Amino acid sequence: MHIDVLTLFPEIFAPFLSTGIVGRAHDNGLIAVRLTNFRDFTHDVHRTVDDKPYGGGPGMVLKCQPIFDAVRHLDANADPPPQRILLTPQGRPLDQQLAAELALQKALLIICGRYEGFDERIRLGLKPLEVSVGDYVLSGGEPAAMVLIDVVTRLLPGALGDDQSAADESFCDGTLEYPQYTRPAEFENMKVPDVLLSGNHQEVDRWRQLQRAERTRLRRPDLIPPAEPG
Ligand code: ADE
Repeated sequence: MHIDVLTLFPEIFAPFLSTGIVGRAHDNGLIAVRLTNFRDFTHDVHRTVDDKPYGGGPGMVLKCQPIFDAVRHLDANADPPPQRILLTPQGRPLDQQLAAELALQKALLIICGRYEGFDERIRLGLKPLEVSVGDYVLSGGEPAAMVLIDVVTRLLPGALGDDQSAADESFCDGTLEYPQYTRPAEFENMKVPDVLLSGNHQEVDRWRQLQRAERTRLRRPDLIPPAEPG
């Protein structure tokens, strides 16, 4: 998958892109990430990317021109054009379902904002898919872009050492993951549940299913679909 990121702070991506599962996917060519600073698309001596909001008010607003020019430049070299994504708290909440949809794309173009926000015409003119990583306001889209790249990368075939591990995780079937243990069998008086030491795979599976259901009910009842009427 080809991933373009438009950002004013490309340098903050370096350790993220060279570490762990994302780092390996990057090394293996499973993902190719290109970082573009849209300040490079300004034409004035001050390299201005933002300006005061019309109508007054605090903060600065990201201007249309550098972002439009950067997107068009990247699009011109891409076939097919990448799925445009604008990171904003106003966007569609990122969940495993959206991640799975995005993982099917050949190419993504992720736009990270800073300051108070974007000129609305960036939304209207570039028609990106707007994505939020949660109901809070970040200082910029960059951490959100890393979340998005991470969650999509782990869904690409071959990204995880063992393909089963993505299928076993929380949310893959809309529920939370069961509790996990490793050696020793007892630590500070806390024992591993007997069933996990039993060697009975059927019993282990049953226990895990129950734990998933119970955890989801207690911690995230919002994830449980309402019962069918009738
Ligand atoms: N930019 C600032 N806050 C954000 C959020 N919650 N999600 C995505 N992008 C953002």
